[in-house]
Amino acid sequence: MSDKLAQIDPNSRLKVYVETYGCQMNLADTEIVLGIMSKSGYSPTNTMNDADVVLLNTCSVREHAEEKIRQRLGTIRNQRLDKPNLVVGVLGCMAERLRSNLLDDRKVDIVVGPDEYRKLPQLLEGALAGTQGMGVRLSRTETYDDITPFRAEGISAWISVMRGCDKFCTFCIVPFTRGRERSRTLAGVVNEVEQLVRQGIREVTLLGQNVNSYRDGVNDFADLLAAVAKVEPALRVRFTTSHPQDLSDKLIDTIAGHDNLCKYIHLPVQSGSSRVLETMNRTYTRGHYLELVRRIRARIPDVALSTDIIAGFPTETEDEHMETLSLMEEVRYDGAYMFKYSPREGTPAYKMGDDVPDDVKTRRLSEIISLQQKLSYEINSSLIGRTFDVMVDGTSRKSDEQLSGRTDTNKTVVFPKGSLKPGDVVRVKIDRASMATLFGEVVGYLN
Ligand code: SAH
Ligand code: SF4
Ligand code: F3S
Repeated sequence: MSDKLAQIDPNSRLKVYVETYGCQMNLADTEIVLGIMSKSGYSPTNTMNDADVVLLNTCSVREHAEEKIRQRLGTIRNQRLDKPNLVVGVLGCMAERLRSNLLDDRKVDIVVGPDEYRKLPQLLEGALAGTQGMGVRLSRTETYDDITPFRAEGISAWISVMRGCDKFCTFCIVPFTRGRERSRTLAGVVNEVEQLVRQGIREVTLLGQNVNSYRDGVNDFADLLAAVAKVEPALRVRFTTSHPQDLSDKLIDTIAGHDNLCKYIHLPVQSGSSRVLETMNRTYTRGHYLELVRRIRARIPDVALSTDIIAGFPTETEDEHMETLSLMEEVRYDGAYMFKYSPREGTPAYKMGDDVPDDVKTRRLSEIISLQQKLSYEINSSLIGRTFDVMVDGTSRKSDEQLSGRTDTNKTVVFPKGSLKPGDVVRVKIDRASMATLFGEVVGYLN
């Protein structure tokens, strides 16, 4: 590879473009990466065309996610034929999983895992001089607490408060790509929230693969949520993802006790069968989970719940699949992310084989999706006639004449445009509903 630096104008700041795949943790990490890069003199750009450096922040959670990224790398390699100076890097979970394999075919210049982003400027310097580089060590302490993320303008911000996962669900690659759990300090998070509020942010989402197991040595996640809620009463505070094992009564009471802690919990169940849950190492039974949902609903009556479900886990029988459907009917989730099981090399489930045939997985998944669509439609329809406080996100995707916003329970609401701007909160009366959206009229203004 030639010396790429020699061909670049030394007076212009190099432009970096990051494409993000996977979960919200990756979206938050991209902002950390851009924070690190802009501090070292790079300027972020939103288009690949004018970029000097292209980074893909990747996901390994299912084979399909990796395939999409491999294809994208192929396309970028073709573009590099016209732009030989372009530096290409792979970040995130695929970088951590595949490591030097990604460097072998020289499609990419640098490979950097989730805990080594501080090394990016140095690795890029090498890459610009024609040397491939890699940083894939996992850390027990790195939380990027001191890095100021580079955030796009808007009313919402992601804040990652803990990293890693120690749960080791048998199907999941995340504990291997993200390493051990570690948390930022409560003071560090509160400080960041205060700054964001001063900058005009109206909604924050506290993130962790396993956000409820946040602990900074003194405070647990309930303490953190309470402290963040107190920063500003008008700030909406969300969090994700909650593992059922760590959703304590203290946490439920904390959510119930603060108006600005949003009444929405993403509580992945994965399966409705206790036997399958045990094989997944989820550490709860169907009964425990349903009891937890009962306790949540008793304390937070209007709470919205969503979930993740895997269809066709190894050894899952037809009856066990039916148990998943019946659990969905019992809980009546507001929404769900639903997946076909995808074997991940290196995980305990990988060794169990992949014995549910693909056509059976596909059929089970489509039954799960159809049921969820029916439930979402029924739940949304039952809200017609009710009035909600909706925070405006922006213009509706489907019509310039309409605005789109969300309720505190995270439901999308579409209503006619007035003289409103993102972040405003309005009272909307619902007059129509679809599976994914509520529609209504503004009946009052709150700020
Ligand atoms: N930490 C979060 C989930 C992270 S991964 C949690 O515990 O809830 C997001 C979702 O992807 C998981 O909840 C699971 O439903 C799904 N998933 C993870 N590994 C998978 C695999 N090997 N095959 C199919 N789906 C998987
Ligand atoms: Fe994966 Fe389980 Fe950890 Fe979630 S809790 S990231 S599903 S191992
Ligand atoms: Fe994917 Fe890594 Fe997130 S595997 S889901 S990007 S933690």
